[in-house]
Amino acid sequence: MTFEDVHARRDQALSKRVDEVCKEFTIDKSKLEELTYHFIDSMKIGLEPQGKGHATSKNMPMIPSFVTAKPNGTETGLFLAADLGGTNFRICSVELHGDHSFTMQQLKSSIPEELLEEEGVTSHELFSYLARRTAVFLKKHHDDLLKDGESTPLKLGFTFSFPVEQKGLDSGTLIRWTKGFNIQDTVGKDVVQLYQKELDDQGLSSVKVVALTNDTVGTFLSHCYNSGDSVSSLSGEISEPVIGCIFGTGTNGCYLEKIDNIKKLSEEVRDKLREEGKTHMIINTEWGSFDNELKVLPVTKYDIDIDQKYSPNPGYHLFEKRISGMFMGEILRNVLVQLHKERLLFCQYKTYEQLPHRLRTPFELNSEVLSHIEIDDSTDFRETELCLNQSLRLPTTPHERQEIQRIVRAISRRSAFLSAVPIAAILIKTGALHKRFHGEVEIGCDGSVVEYYPGFRSMLRDALALSPLGPEGERKVHIKIAKDGSGVGAALCALVA
Ligand code: BGC
Repeated sequence: MTFEDVHARRDQALSKRVDEVCKEFTIDKSKLEELTYHFIDSMKIGLEPQGKGHATSKNMPMIPSFVTAKPNGTETGLFLAADLGGTNFRICSVELHGDHSFTMQQLKSSIPEELLEEEGVTSHELFSYLARRTAVFLKKHHDDLLKDGESTPLKLGFTFSFPVEQKGLDSGTLIRWTKGFNIQDTVGKDVVQLYQKELDDQGLSSVKVVALTNDTVGTFLSHCYNSGDSVSSLSGEISEPVIGCIFGTGTNGCYLEKIDNIKKLSEEVRDKLREEGKTHMIINTEWGSFDNELKVLPVTKYDIDIDQKYSPNPGYHLFEKRISGMFMGEILRNVLVQLHKERLLFCQYKTYEQLPHRLRTPFELNSEVLSHIEIDDSTDFRETELCLNQSLRLPTTPHERQEIQRIVRAISRRSAFLSAVPIAAILIKTGALHKRFHGEVEIGCDGSVVEYYPGFRSMLRDALALSPLGPEGERKVHIKIAKDGSGVGAALCALVA
């Protein structure tokens, strides 16, 4: 056999194996259906009283946010907002003008790496860092308010984008960290108290943390503030915001649920809310934890390895681990390493140890790299070659790159298809599409994947049409990018506090 023959055979074997990998990542209509109905059941279980639907169990947490109304854009006032949700901390002041518009000043800081990566870091170290950054911001932009604040407290809304067991609008204990944070000492503690104590210690006791919110709730509120119930100028149809969600480093969503259905709130609390004329409350689903029991979620060898070997919270947030930006690159890395092990890829490296160090490093492959490969139509996949060289120091042949692109597209398509499941399920459970004749709905979304990953939104729409919503349902859904949830949304929470 000639040298060329050997290569041709290897190329063929690789393509055949990639066919199998792509198949494993495929979600068809019947799977979408099964997932959607299981999601609806999981929502119902999560709303049950503690025990059955307890947030620390494997169930989807379904956390009552204690926000009971949607803003309509006429709200006014000046509020502070702080946001911890990923590797950045943002503190801002938001002035709501009452005409859907606002002005904002902000300070963004990256969380020091030692707080994220070192063992034995304490809550005190994290929250005192947040309080010190808050002090820097206020001294720079609002020294005047600090002085006035002695008589009128400065209300702060805190967007904390991790699962918390919320006890009221201004209190919640951390259930578990996600997205790479791992400060064990914080689990089970009230994050509002932790932050307030450090603010007080910084001499900022005029700043009062009055509301705790999740980024999805903030996204929903800010979308409502910006758009209200919008009427299409062409058709006159009303489209109403019904879901707030994030598809970024992590994924999650919230929606308005009837208070009568939120059985996990005590009878006393529900009666009080009814007396106040409240009918609905926003539920933070924490859908990243959908089907932690793996009853219906698709499972590949790569998903198992990532969860068990490389993630800080094995057994939890398994839906997020198949969808979000933090994991898409890691899934690809695991597939590539497996195909190398099978001697189908990167055969110039004889052993695993010889592979480029970056390809052996968990979470080194960023989803941004996948977004370039996804749409690479250059000759011989030059763009892909460049990306893999730059990000992983990994040389590749044109055929390898062609196959890698197929794998990338299978991973992103599965991510987008799974992302459609909670949207379809919530619309069905709440009957949102049938509230008005010809009524339409808006989904306010934020996050790098939904905003920037090429084709993500249109694949999500394809899946909505295939889901039990069908094409007629899908046509009534408007996916809108909603910005500034953690600023405007948190300010709106502080306003109602
Ligand atoms: C967190 C959620 C958050 C989502 C998006 C998830 O990992 O558990 O609370 O809303 O990421 O940021």
